[in-house]
Amino acid sequence: VKSEKDLSPVILRTRAAMQAQARAWRKTGEVIGFVPTMGALHDGHLSLLHTAKAQASKCVVSVFVNPAQFAPGEDFERYPRDEAKDLELLAAAGCDAVYLPDIEEIYPRGNLTAVSVTDLSDRLEGRCRPHFFYGVSTVVARLFLHVLPDIAVFGEKDYQQLQIIRRMVRDLGFPIEIIGGPTQRESDGLAQSSRNAYLSPEERQAAGAVFSALHRASVRLKLGAAVEDALAEAEAHLKAAGFGPVDYFSAVDPDTFEDISSGPLASGQTARLLVAAWLGRTRLIDNLSASA
Ligand code: PAF
Repeated sequence: VKSEKDLSPVILRTRAAMQAQARAWRKTGEVIGFVPTMGALHDGHLSLLHTAKAQASKCVVSVFVNPAQFAPGEDFERYPRDEAKDLELLAAAGCDAVYLPDIEEIYPRGNLTAVSVTDLSDRLEGRCRPHFFYGVSTVVARLFLHVLPDIAVFGEKDYQQLQIIRRMVRDLGFPIEIIGGPTQRESDGLAQSSRNAYLSPEERQAAGAVFSALHRASVRLKLGAAVEDALAEAEAHLKAAGFGPVDYFSAVDPDTFEDISSGPLASGQTARLLVAAWLGRTRLIDNLSASA
């Protein structure tokens, strides 16, 4: 019987220690799975870890709140952080190693290098948050080179991020298989997210409307509605539920993110519906597949 200590993940705080661990595992033939996170872990993250564990013999979770993907005035300072609870959850979930770098491990003083996945990073979420995906691709490339994984799992909740990482891996030839993990939802459909912690009880009640709006739009498209009508109805549904500004509610090609803005979907055509909308001071994003 293993003691609790044996079940605890190894904690690695430097690039050198992380790479040494990865190399040692590789030498003994282990397959390394990786789930990058910004902490404040919830069931959504743990389900990504379970996906990784199903395909790899050793799993690493990183916890690093990446300043490069927050603009001035965004929630970098108030982003939820709870290292002790994260470690407890990861131990219980059977994580093998936790990578907890500090800022200088990821961004050495005076560093000048960034990774940009152009075009895809400028659409939808990238139009609202121009710095965001450039910060994500830069940190994920660095994390990949520290963790040296065989596979890495990213949530479909951040669908545009997942597709950008897939493109980066393809373009740069990282020898890493990218796996999308299905979105974990609350009973009313709200996608699990660390930022849900910001919602007041009243806002939490209204927040399920994001998923119902997506679902209604996807049903309408299946039934042959024009894209512009399905999206207008979905946006009206959000407004009726008490949402403020809708940054975007769009239907796009699932790979290129080219806008699909008018008429019904062609038979067999698949679109991705993506939404970002404000509920009080909290910005919620979600997405769903739709096909005709
Ligand atoms: O999805 C996230 O939590 C972050 O964008 C990621 C991938 C960990 C990069 O900081």
